[in-house]
Amino acid sequence: MSERRVDWISSPAGPLRGELRVPGDKSISHRAVMFASLADGVSRITGFLEGEDTRATARAFVEMGVRIEAPGASERIVHGVGLHGLRAPVAPVDCGNAGTGMRLLAGLLAGQQFDSTLIGDESLSRRPMERVAKPLRQLGAVIETTAGKPPVTVRGGHPLKGGAVVSEIASAQVKSAVLLAGLFADGETSFTEPARSRDHTERMLRLMGAEVIQRGNTVAVRGRPALRGFALDVPGDLSSAAFLIAAALVAPEGTTLSLDHVGVNPTRAGFLDALALFGARLKLELAQSPGPEPVAKLTVSSQKLRGAQLDGELVLRAIDEVPILAVLGALAEGETVIRGAQELRVKESDRIAQTAFGLRAMGAKVEELPDGLRIQGGRLRGGTAIDSAMDHRIALAFSVAALAAREAIIISGAEWADVSFPGFYALLRRLGAEVEIVP
Ligand code: S3P
Repeated sequence: MSERRVDWISSPAGPLRGELRVPGDKSISHRAVMFASLADGVSRITGFLEGEDTRATARAFVEMGVRIEAPGASERIVHGVGLHGLRAPVAPVDCGNAGTGMRLLAGLLAGQQFDSTLIGDESLSRRPMERVAKPLRQLGAVIETTAGKPPVTVRGGHPLKGGAVVSEIASAQVKSAVLLAGLFADGETSFTEPARSRDHTERMLRLMGAEVIQRGNTVAVRGRPALRGFALDVPGDLSSAAFLIAAALVAPEGTTLSLDHVGVNPTRAGFLDALALFGARLKLELAQSPGPEPVAKLTVSSQKLRGAQLDGELVLRAIDEVPILAVLGALAEGETVIRGAQELRVKESDRIAQTAFGLRAMGAKVEELPDGLRIQGGRLRGGTAIDSAMDHRIALAFSVAALAAREAIIISGAEWADVSFPGFYALLRRLGAEVEIVP
């Protein structure tokens, strides 16, 4: 992200109202362009997230010789080159801000005949990469990290052998990197995790004709499948919808928002279960979906919330929504405790620290725990500035907090919201909120 600007957010002038579709799912958009590139044949993707991260992933495949057309906004036609058709990129592959992009690419590149180097922006360059490098080495990959972080160099021409990887952390990024490497390996490759992480990779590989076997928290693929191209309408991102749902819940009476075609895959819909614990009522209408992912229309109105205890597998299934859940906790009645979220310390920023810091700046009583937060609910005051810390979810969570605060606040570095939710501020304005951009 090059250009830096500051956005001033003030409280909504009145109730929020609207019916809309949120941008495409980030996790699925990354996978769609990656997997389509490996297919024998053409894939058509609609609902693709036009965010910085997912565009960086698409660019990476163009640099490796894949023809990707963009006939319209959020549309991509990917001319797959097959499992063995990628070309060596001439320069290091820039993954931008995207942990998902870099980690999945590491797995996919481990099976190539050429060397490649993965680089990222300042935030991504601080993130741990041994978590993918180690299990990939177990399959025969030759990978170097830089003191555990990017740049990551993946050496080509080392044959991979299927194996059983057992992971101490539940992570869809690590799992997907291993399964992608497994596509290039001899025999079966399996991944076992302590709890089941989001399964978008498994669903998409099955759609393409690969054999994917699930046994409890273990998933396995057979090497060298023929992968066919596909048509996919990427569901709206529940992680983005979460910010609008939260904004509606805490907005003045008379608010109603309807969000159409939102992905509600149970392996990552913990946010909806968390809302139920806050006492929130939401209308969920499941749609007939021809695709691999369940989608629904969600309708929500403003209402009073009570504090909640969130932990365990629910938190894993809501891991990207913890900052916004913490904001809701700060506005609910009573105490909210969030545990089991230690992974948040190594996201685009240390999200536990940034959330605690921001909420305290807005007057909330917050205790930072090693793996979460303890928050005393009440009201939030504004009159302060919050830095996004190069983290889209921090920018978005505090923009919502600002809508419910007593005075306006400044979100500095608000442009980071574009990573997952391009057009967020313009959309808020259309829904009735007062948002002013300060150059
Ligand atoms: C993602 C998996 C999660 C999530 C991230 C996207 C994915 O990370 O936090 O935003 O697309 O696989 P981990 O796999 O590191 O838990």
